[in-house]
Amino acid sequence: MGLFTKKPFEMLMAEAEGENRLHRVLGPLGLTSLGVGAIIGTGIFVLTGVAAHDKAGPALMISFVVAGLTCVFAALCYAEFASMVPIAGSAYTYAYATLGELFAWIIGWDLILEYAVGSATVAHGWSHYFQDFASLFGVHFPRALGNAPFDYDLATGKLVATGAILDLPALLIAGVVTAVLVKGIRESAWVNTLMVVIKLLVVLLVIGLGARYVQPKNWQPMAPYGWGGFSFFGKITFGDLGPGGVPRGMLAGAGMIFFAYIGFDSVSTHAEEAKNPKRDIPIGIIASLIVCTILYIAVTAVITGMIPYDKIDINAPISDAFGQVGVKWAQLLISIGGLTGITSVLLVLMLSQPRVMLAMARDGLVPTGFFGAIHEKFRTPHKSTMLTGVFVGLMAALLPLRVLAELVNIGTLLAFLIVCAAVLIMRKSHPHVPRPFRTPFVPLVPILGILSCLMLMLSLPMENWLRLVGWLLLGFVIYFAYGRKHSVGSRIDKGTA
Ligand code: ALA
Repeated sequence: MGLFTKKPFEMLMAEAEGENRLHRVLGPLGLTSLGVGAIIGTGIFVLTGVAAHDKAGPALMISFVVAGLTCVFAALCYAEFASMVPIAGSAYTYAYATLGELFAWIIGWDLILEYAVGSATVAHGWSHYFQDFASLFGVHFPRALGNAPFDYDLATGKLVATGAILDLPALLIAGVVTAVLVKGIRESAWVNTLMVVIKLLVVLLVIGLGARYVQPKNWQPMAPYGWGGFSFFGKITFGDLGPGGVPRGMLAGAGMIFFAYIGFDSVSTHAEEAKNPKRDIPIGIIASLIVCTILYIAVTAVITGMIPYDKIDINAPISDAFGQVGVKWAQLLISIGGLTGITSVLLVLMLSQPRVMLAMARDGLVPTGFFGAIHEKFRTPHKSTMLTGVFVGLMAALLPLRVLAELVNIGTLLAFLIVCAAVLIMRKSHPHVPRPFRTPFVPLVPILGILSCLMLMLSLPMENWLRLVGWLLLGFVIYFAYGRKHSVGSRIDKGTA
């Protein structure tokens, strides 16, 4: 008991069947659209450049397969839980029922890395495309206001000043998205669908038009940095170590562009807003992931085929590739697609964060008066949405993209790993609970999920482990100072829940 008190499954189900606290407006198409909206963004439009240029070369295509497979394993596990426990909160809620309160807290705290820090990363990517777009009209945004004040220098492994003060476009977009979200999900879902359609059309344009400019000789050598990129806390290494001692190679590329897949799980945080969560949430998760995996592999094949990997731009690689082959009109359309695409990612990630906090507030792990507050008219968790907005805006304005992206990846991989483990545990502890969707080939799929998440975590530069541990320690301090004393778990222990 104590730290490992579990929230009884029956209590979760009773909550799920209670009053409708959020509006139920989302069907399978809406949920898949939210998924695709959350997935295709800064990862493919921005990080592909750095990953191909510095880490994997054309073998980045295979990196996308590896990262995509990791997500498929995790998605199959998420889907089982999402169908069993169809209430808001995602991995956090599942952990409370299976692994107990301390793990639930760890995962909820860790999800801040995925959703809020992820949003900050995405806002940064938005700013790159915004500046690229403006430059097509000869408008050059002031350098001092177009980037974070410092960056991570790959060659030395140190932080260096960029000469900028803050990334103003990133701050502004975070503000605009916050305002939209405070107003409500119905409007957000509508705006999101429109943006998803635009970005899908642009991605299809990149593939269809770009294929004409592919020169297969650019795919040779396929893996200029090798197929590895796996280090054990900076020590035993499979593959090449790049400048600054960071792993590089196909696997290191997978560790980085894993970011491009983040977001599919946010579909499960909308369970409370789904019309038929048991059926539609698994459909939404798996369909959106499959669509994105296919598109990513095709886009990467095209871009690395159009441009030699060492000439790919690292700021706005997809639109720049079309500039390099002289198709300026496509460059313009693609930067518009990049901007809308990235906006929709931001919308979904920033929508998900307050909903995880809402679930945690209902369990007493964070102050209910603030994080549990729902706006009378808009029916949205307005206070925590605004707090998320401030946090995201400040981080996006002040911290470098590369550092943010890797921190998000390691945090999200940890959350996925715990979800895969929880499926195994739940099958043993609650074998008879109805599972409208069952993860296939248990225990193989969850075990492969755990191993592949761990592999990608180890192919990230080592500082990320230190940052992850630092973040989790901060979380423990908050948990023991507040959450443990106020939680539903402590009330269960005292028999007052
Ligand atoms: N997958 C999302 C993106 O690439 C987070 O922007």
